[in-house]
Amino acid sequence: MTLPDIPIRKIDHVRFFVGNARQSAFFYRNAFGFEVVGYSGLETKVKHEAGYVIKQGGITFVLISPLRPQHPEVQRLVLHGDGVSDIALQVDDVRMAYNLAVERGGVGVKGPTTLEDEHGTYDFATIRAYGDTTHTFVNRDRYKGVFSPGFRAIDPARYSPGTYHPAGLLAIDHIVGNVEEGKMNEWVEFYRKVLGFEQLVSFDDKDISTDYSALMSKVVQSGRGRVKFPINEPAQGRRRSQIEEYIDFYGGAGVQHIALATNDIVATVKALLANDVSFLRVPKTYYDQLPARVGPIKEDLAVLAELGILVDRDDEGYMLQIFTKPVQDRPTLFFEIIERQGSKSFGKGNFKALFEAIEREQAVRGTL
Ligand code: FE2
Repeated sequence: MTLPDIPIRKIDHVRFFVGNARQSAFFYRNAFGFEVVGYSGLETKVKHEAGYVIKQGGITFVLISPLRPQHPEVQRLVLHGDGVSDIALQVDDVRMAYNLAVERGGVGVKGPTTLEDEHGTYDFATIRAYGDTTHTFVNRDRYKGVFSPGFRAIDPARYSPGTYHPAGLLAIDHIVGNVEEGKMNEWVEFYRKVLGFEQLVSFDDKDISTDYSALMSKVVQSGRGRVKFPINEPAQGRRRSQIEEYIDFYGGAGVQHIALATNDIVATVKALLANDVSFLRVPKTYYDQLPARVGPIKEDLAVLAELGILVDRDDEGYMLQIFTKPVQDRPTLFFEIIERQGSKSFGKGNFKALFEAIEREQAVRGTL
């Protein structure tokens, strides 16, 4: 029996819970080229937390910090450090999406709620996902303000003039979750049965294995491919895998990386490097094998090698990708920059080179 789909339009925004939202906003602006467009806090009569809305292309991030020790989520910072707390999904009808999800076994966190101010009404409702992560269903069709009630357009005087390089990031391509060993299928079923996603592909430890780092991964999607969530779990390796390292430092399951799409990865990576973003590097030998592995591509191989951009090909085309180092001290959340030239896959051909690069970083951290 096919389950009725919850019509998910796209990822509306990603909410990060961080120790110092003001400084995080500065980081995402100056390093990744986001514009800081909205603010919420004491000055907007929000007493318990400060929030910054940052945007680039079709990407919206919301950075939230507690203002007082009584904030209901304050323990999250001790447990997880900075990280993604919510992936908000835009839907036609929040009440319908929430009721359907809960009826099918989803765990409600906040029932359908409407917020209102002079800019209109904003509907949302929240359910649990893996770890302490949640999904909020959002509808903003009748809202004309900068983000949601409680936020106002940012006062640029709060910031020094920017000298960062715009990065040309356009959209969220996919968001990857790391879950505990043995839990991957449970969460794939959650997305299928509760949210009506379809399963796309799976990789097992034969695809994704080095001497140390084995993992298994399945990809679920909704919104006709506009929402793609790969789910990873650690598999038995000889030593501690990168997924176990993540779960250990994050204190449970959570968002591992967010892939941001560009249509000119060379220009994007040049801008990000000029902004001092740190990327994982693969050995130069990776590029010796590249022409034989991926065939003709329009980009200059020497430029890709200099910047450290990886390439992979499948039946439908090729794709270019690169991964940042973790963006906080804990080896947890990082970002991927991706440009698709026909390929709809996730860079399986790069897993080995990539995981060896991650393991070199783990060895430096003493966590291998
Ligand atoms: Fe990815």
